[in-house]
Amino acid sequence: MKQIVIQGGHKLSGTIEISGAKNSAVALVPAALLSDDIVTIDNIPNISDIDALNEILEYLGAEVVLKNKTMVINSKNIVNKEIPEAISSKLRASYYFMSALLGKYKKVEMYFPGGCSIGARPIDQTLKAFKALGATVVEDGKKYTIYAKELVGNTIYLDMPSVGATINTILAAVRATGVTIIRNAAKEPEIVNVATFLNNMGAQISGAGTSKIRIIGVDSLGKGFTEVIPDRIEAGTYIIAGALMGDNLKIDNIIPEHVESLIYKLNEIGVNYRLYDNSIVLSSTDNLKPTRVKTLGYPGFPTDLQQPLTVLLAKCNGVSVLEETIYENRFKNIDYLNKMGCNISLINNQKIKIFGPSVLVGTDVVATDLRAGACMVLAGLVASGETRITEVDHILRGYENIIDKLTSVGAKISLLDE
Ligand code: EPU
Repeated sequence: MKQIVIQGGHKLSGTIEISGAKNSAVALVPAALLSDDIVTIDNIPNISDIDALNEILEYLGAEVVLKNKTMVINSKNIVNKEIPEAISSKLRASYYFMSALLGKYKKVEMYFPGGCSIGARPIDQTLKAFKALGATVVEDGKKYTIYAKELVGNTIYLDMPSVGATINTILAAVRATGVTIIRNAAKEPEIVNVATFLNNMGAQISGAGTSKIRIIGVDSLGKGFTEVIPDRIEAGTYIIAGALMGDNLKIDNIIPEHVESLIYKLNEIGVNYRLYDNSIVLSSTDNLKPTRVKTLGYPGFPTDLQQPLTVLLAKCNGVSVLEETIYENRFKNIDYLNKMGCNISLINNQKIKIFGPSVLVGTDVVATDLRAGACMVLAGLVASGETRITEVDHILRGYENIIDKLTSVGAKISLLDE
């Protein structure tokens, strides 16, 4: 059984380099299939979600070379066949293959995607977009067969600004006939990264990063290059680590605008930091003030950082309130934080009250999902004694070299596989 073991209470100094963004990379890799030529993606993070996507690429017959974080994908000889559930259920992002294959071959057969268990994660908006573009969607249990004689541009209003539905609609529409407009599109930086990559291959997408995206369909896509943007959630996680345990801890290779909502919360809490053009340096401090946080789509406070932030709120002097508006069940970390000595009440499935300051003590805890796992790592760093985290594969799906990165700045953390 794999476990992460942390001896807490050690200050963190030195530099942590931020890797390429998981949620960009997992969309860029399937997007590569839309090209009829060879494409290159730089700054690919070394995480197991990428391994799972590679498995799908290779299953379809693409040639993939991944060396020194650069991935070269040649999908000239791929065979568009049913993707087995055993591979697609490993991660949420497998559904980007639905749209990429539909966009290129006008047919796809695959299963409902996997992903962290954080509440219902329907794909109705993606399916709505496929249908609006002229596709027929046949559902047989978890299996989807989606096909079209021709995909024709249309205007699609998303009921909520879903990241997945926005990217899926772009991927399906980019080689359609005519113009597609996405209204109420998600504005996350990862969407800009994907659109920039596709435009580099010859697509005509404008407005990515705003709530109205316009796609003029093109017949084919050619050679392309892009670089994965720095991971704003990984950055945010280590920024919080610095606020908790930093002694001039530098988080390098960040885009400050992408973590702006977190920086504003650090200001309200009274965290000690210095922000530079592409880095931030943090030192822990006492007298932290409580605050209120509500998760929202970008540029609001990211849901993916609320679980890590809870540890910092538990160290604040007073009562903080955290409201989760994106997912219906993203507080599985709370029982474990309370087991470590926090005093957090669940007001309802989407709202917690954190009574601080708490003194955390290491114990056995579980990484119930990716960001809950990150929360447990932060709690372990700040707690006295030993914290043992199980189900750590969730963490390794999304944080590159987390053990080495934290060890290099002074944490006592190791991965046991016994
Ligand atoms: N939703 C629907 N119908 C849809 C699509 C979404 O009801 O067709 C709802 C979902 O149930 C959820 C909300 O809309 O309540 C947000 O879903 P969204 O589609 O935006 O999320 P996603 O694309 O499935 C991506 C990230 C998540 C991140 C969210 C929000 C990937 C692979 N995943 O998920 O990342 O939380 O956007 O920013 O990009 C993580 O990294 O830990 C993670 C969960």
